[in-house]
Amino acid sequence: MKKYIIGNLKMNLLPKDTQDYCNILKENANSKCTVGVALPFTSLGLGHVALHDSKILLGAQNLHYEDGGSFTGEVSSEMLKQSGCAFCIVGHSERRQKFGETNAFINKKIKSLLKKGIKVILCIGESLGENQNGKTKQVLSKQLFECLEGLYENELKSIIIAYEPIWAIGSGKTPQAKQVERAVNNIRSVIKTAYSENAGEKIAVLYGGSVTKENVKSFLLVKGINGALVGGASKDALAFSELVNLV
Ligand code: PGA
Repeated sequence: MKKYIIGNLKMNLLPKDTQDYCNILKENANSKCTVGVALPFTSLGLGHVALHDSKILLGAQNLHYEDGGSFTGEVSSEMLKQSGCAFCIVGHSERRQKFGETNAFINKKIKSLLKKGIKVILCIGESLGENQNGKTKQVLSKQLFECLEGLYENELKSIIIAYEPIWAIGSGKTPQAKQVERAVNNIRSVIKTAYSENAGEKIAVLYGGSVTKENVKSFLLVKGINGALVGGASKDALAFSELVNLV
C-alpha cells in the first residue's frame, strides 16, 4: 500500500525562509514514502526551484476553478501547474468554515485541477457536535457525494481523500484508532457504492488532525490508512523530516 506524508504549511512559510525549508527537507527526509508540501502561493515559485531535483512533491493549498478573468486575488489551476504544483489541497475545513466554501464549489475546483493533471487532496471531516451526535458517517458521505459529483471512476486515481475531524485540527485532540478505522471504512464504502468495489479499495485515504512525531505511527497502523496530512508539525523542516522518516 502506497504511503504518503503531506505537510500543510497553511499561512506560515515566508518567501525568505522557503529555500532553507525545502533544502532542509531535501537533505533530511529520506523515507521511501511519498512526501509532499503544500506551500502558500507566495512560496510556490521558490519551492519549485528548490525542490525540482528532489522527489518531494510541491503542492498548493487553494485555487479558483475559473481558468482566468476578473477574479481579483484568485489563482487558477493553470497558474498552479505553471508554478510546478503536483497537487493541491481542496475542501479544508478552514476554508469551509472561514471562507464559506461549499461542496458544490469544491467540486468545481476538483474538476479544474483534474483538467490540468494536478492531483487533488480532498479534505472531509465532521465537527465535534456531529461526532458526538453520531452523524460522522452521514457527514462524510454527503461531503464525498457532493464533492465528487460528476467525476468518472478513472479520475479517482488522481484523488486522495484526507479524513480530518474538524475537532482534531490544531487542537492536540485526536480520535482513537477505532474511530479513524470506522471513518476510513465509511469513506471506502461510499466510493464502492458510487463507483465500484475496486475503486473503494484503491482510493488513497489519509488521516489529518494533530498528527505529531509521537502519534504518526499509530495512525499509519490503522487499517486502510495510506498516510497523514500534517499541519502544525510540518512547520519546522527538520522536525517534519524526522516525522517523515518514522514512516
Ligand atoms: P494540524 O493540521 O496537524 O495542525 O492539526 C492539520 C490540517 O489542518 O491539515
